[in-house]
Amino acid sequence: MTEINPVTTLTREGDVAVLTLNSPPVNALSAQVREGLFNGFKAAAASDAKAVVLICEGRTFIAGADITEFGGGPTGAASVDDVQKIMESSPIPVIAAIHGTALGGGLEVALCAHYRVAVPSARLGLPEVALGLLPGAGGTQRLPRIVGVETALEMMTSGRHVPAPEAARLGLVDEIVEEGGLREGAVAFANKAVAEGKPLVKVSANNARLEAAKGHPEIFAAFRKANARKFRGFVAPESNIRCIEAAVNSATFAEGMAEEHRLFRELMAGPQSAAQRYYFFAERQANKIPDVPADTPVRPIRKVGIIGAGTMGGGIAMNFANAGIPVVIVEVQEVALTRGLGVVRANYERTASRGGLTAEQVATRTGLITGSLEMSALADVDLVIEAVFERMDIKKEIFAKLDGLCRPGAILATNTSYLDIDEIASATKRPQDVIGMHFFSPANVMKLLEVVRADATAKDVIATVMKFAKQIGKIGVLVGVCNGFVGNRMLKQRQNEAQKLMLEGAMPWDIDRVLFDFGFPMGPFAMSDLAGLDVGWVKENSKSATVRDVLCEMDRRGQKTGAGFYDYDAERNAKPSPVTEGIIKDFMARTGAKPRAVSDAEILERTIFPLINEGAKILEEGKAIRASDIDVVWVNGYGWPVYRGGPMYYADQIGLPKVLAKMQEFQAAMGDEFKPASLLERLVAEGKTFADFKV
Ligand code: 3HC
Repeated sequence: MTEINPVTTLTREGDVAVLTLNSPPVNALSAQVREGLFNGFKAAAASDAKAVVLICEGRTFIAGADITEFGGGPTGAASVDDVQKIMESSPIPVIAAIHGTALGGGLEVALCAHYRVAVPSARLGLPEVALGLLPGAGGTQRLPRIVGVETALEMMTSGRHVPAPEAARLGLVDEIVEEGGLREGAVAFANKAVAEGKPLVKVSANNARLEAAKGHPEIFAAFRKANARKFRGFVAPESNIRCIEAAVNSATFAEGMAEEHRLFRELMAGPQSAAQRYYFFAERQANKIPDVPADTPVRPIRKVGIIGAGTMGGGIAMNFANAGIPVVIVEVQEVALTRGLGVVRANYERTASRGGLTAEQVATRTGLITGSLEMSALADVDLVIEAVFERMDIKKEIFAKLDGLCRPGAILATNTSYLDIDEIASATKRPQDVIGMHFFSPANVMKLLEVVRADATAKDVIATVMKFAKQIGKIGVLVGVCNGFVGNRMLKQRQNEAQKLMLEGAMPWDIDRVLFDFGFPMGPFAMSDLAGLDVGWVKENSKSATVRDVLCEMDRRGQKTGAGFYDYDAERNAKPSPVTEGIIKDFMARTGAKPRAVSDAEILERTIFPLINEGAKILEEGKAIRASDIDVVWVNGYGWPVYRGGPMYYADQIGLPKVLAKMQEFQAAMGDEFKPASLLERLVAEGKTFADFKV
């Protein structure tokens, strides 16, 4: 064995040299890795080996460029391009042996091997778009040369990790080898390549798939049109598309590469990629809890119980069934239980009818969810999640019962979205086992899980729930007990301001447009219409006290009744409503309010800055561990555009002095509800940012 450098070794298996890379955690292409690969391939070519296999140790093949190095100066080490050139021009066959994930720069390196073999569980992809980037190491030029233009467009703009069997069908992988037998399989493939005199395939020289797309600009036009909604606001998808266009239209590979490099540099220098890279690390940081170390033991979760078969309970149950964990749902009334289980089944069947699940998967998943009318069905579960309606007395009664019947050590969670979890826990004699698991609706779709730590919650309960969140495909963020926790507490500020602005002269569609253009999927009024204006509205008690009351009294209850703040046509397209405008104006006349012109800039500042100010209060009260956790909540739970990082990151970018000055201006004009958070004042005085803040 020859040690090339601390992360690469070269060994021999008969005629085949095996270059092994071991650079935890994910073998990213750091300077040291690039140096090791370059010198390793050089040494292999200089030896009498007849082929060389590149394989990685640890959990994965190369997962991409080293994102932590972005923005740094030149390192003097071999570049990715140097590594790729030495591979592609190697005089002996180079075989990439892939397990785990070959992503971004990792796949781009693999595309410079002459052949690729992979285990069935491996996944391959170019996910740079998620970082606001494009594959900048030739991926945009090589991928379409193998998989064709349409597939390359889809893969690069979605960043999807393609499973190895599919990659093999696409020609991206030449051979699937047995799971657990990657090294032997790759060496066998190399020996076969030598024995059969297989050609040294250079993907960059293979133009056949591109020729097929030449003179067909409609492929790109159709793709742009079909995805316009999905790409709205993002710059990277369009740059990815342009690179593939360049691959098709350039006279040479080098010309396409030049366009790739130009667009890559442009994205890398822009604000969106900076925000998306920030967000990548923010999401991973959220898993780190200062007083709950990574090695905290976790409690086993083999079976889950859910109380309440409503929309929330059913959606939560689906998460566990999807992860293969049996769930029992407990309801009081048989009709409600039957209806709830029926909704779950219908959800699965709808997914299946769109090709998202096989009939067998539907059967397995629905088979994992059982119903019961008896609380005693929860006696053997490891985790129970209460998802009944928001009444403290009912929740306390339920937790007292759980205390009596659940086995010792079972985790008792509540899905409350604002109630005091310490008070709920006080109904038990085991408050250390009580925690909040605040799912977002629809619970089987939304990625966010606010994990709410109460005063007595045990550390291993926190560790278990955070780890389990990942297992069921959620992004867990640890927050503290306060009204509305992190997300809804901040949202309330935005909602209040939107309502107030409406009564000052801004129309609902103006407010919605500003927030939509900022990047939210929809504004607060469109959202209310979608959810139904009558959520929480009681006809008998309604006294035309708010615009919403008046709308509901007129049976304008939102999309479902064909009208709410907006008017809707048969296809549910929203139109600004003269009726609503009239109601608002009447309402203002009644209360003596005089309409004034409200600028778009004011709408944005009035709805966003108080929300940020609330985030600052949350931070100083210790209800979130760090500013980036708040950003993770907003991106995943509230549609904050990831290319703006999150509200706290956004505030840091526009400058805290600007946010503070505006809040002071609002406070002077409209009162103390705009009083700046003392943390905001302090950070500005110290010339610091939210990112600098540590509890
Ligand atoms: N660079 C630097 N660090 C990375 C990294 C990368 N490309 N990918 C992952 N890491 C780090 C994470 O920050 C994390 O660090 P931590 O333990 O200190 O928090 C650690 O590796 C493990 O990552 P995860 O917690 O995400 O582990 P998982 O097992 O859940 O997921 C993964 C592994 C699927 C590889 C996931 O980490 C991932 O998606 N990574 C990013 C892949 C990517 O985007 N690659 C493209 C990079 S850009 C590029 O290649 C440009 C090129 O075209 C020029």
